[in-house]
Amino acid sequence: MRANQRITENCQRIFATAEDKLRRLVSAHPDYLPQYTRNGKWKHDGVPWTNWCQGFLPGQLWLLYLYSGDEFWRGLAERYCELIEARKDDRETHDLGFLFWHSWKRWHDLDGEARQRDVVIKAGQTMGLRFKEKGGYLSSFVAPESAFIDIMMNVGIIFYAARETDDAALFNIALQNCLTSRRYLVRGDGSAVHEGIFDLETGAFLRESTHQGWRHDTSWARGLSWAIYGFCTACLFTGDPRFLQTACDCADYYILNTPAHGICPNDWLEPNPARPYEASAAAITASGLQDLAGIVGDPLRARTYQDYACRIVEGLSEPAFLASDDPEWEGILKQAAYHERLGLGVDESTMFGDYFFLESAAKLLKLI
Ligand code: GLY
Repeated sequence: MRANQRITENCQRIFATAEDKLRRLVSAHPDYLPQYTRNGKWKHDGVPWTNWCQGFLPGQLWLLYLYSGDEFWRGLAERYCELIEARKDDRETHDLGFLFWHSWKRWHDLDGEARQRDVVIKAGQTMGLRFKEKGGYLSSFVAPESAFIDIMMNVGIIFYAARETDDAALFNIALQNCLTSRRYLVRGDGSAVHEGIFDLETGAFLRESTHQGWRHDTSWARGLSWAIYGFCTACLFTGDPRFLQTACDCADYYILNTPAHGICPNDWLEPNPARPYEASAAAITASGLQDLAGIVGDPLRARTYQDYACRIVEGLSEPAFLASDDPEWEGILKQAAYHERLGLGVDESTMFGDYFFLESAAKLLKLI
């Protein structure tokens, strides 16, 4: 079978699996917005750690609508978007990009209505309120002195809000966060630091830290995936070649340090990891690399990133990851990890892993 045909068939299987699993989720648990599975089931009493995943279910519903053209999915996508609208004013989270970009922004892209745009703008403006002048970063939900690499996935919504409202000060907030993250949260070898701790009085960078990696100075895979994708988005909004370079450095680290099948562990520097895979980070990377291939310029690098994204999606389409042949498993993508250190959702499905897996397939099928 030719490679293109194989990729297309894999993507169709991913969407067919998503249709099956999501139809069951929305009928078994209407209006429920889960974060991770336990023993393959979405509904359980596990703690959320932080409540940041509510945009990924409406995001998946929109992708199913784009794939199928079926109004059933559009109706659900709109309903699940409405469920989270109030969170545009939520000042407790640094994840408003995750909440609104794949849900309300997708809705606006499809319909072009001012109301949807205004919700996305408000979420971006709320996100901008986290900015710390001293240090030049957006603070994480953990503490005012904490900056997360994950926030690189949430600056896109600030750039967008700033551009739509012609707000140069807001644009500068997003820009400063990207520059600070580039300086302190990406190392010279292209690996990412999960968290940077700053001095609130002086703005000085104090130290590296982590919540979900092996150790403060090691290399948490999902953080790197957010960096690849996030710096690419920052380059798309600013045209700044420094962000393109950083996205490439992070992508090259991923490729260099991951086995040939393309599926990374939770932390590349964890000695003898008990679990070999963190499938959600691989799915996020497969999507980010496709964006990077589109803007990198050099045709050889573009080919490398696009081919690697295909390799990841192929790997994740194997039965060990894609839950197509496991009717009892409620998620789409197995062997993801929500929070290894806290033992939450480890070797399970996660809403973000499922979302970015579907997004990667949607990009390969040129639906988005
Ligand atoms: N943003 C939190 C995580 O990646 O788990």
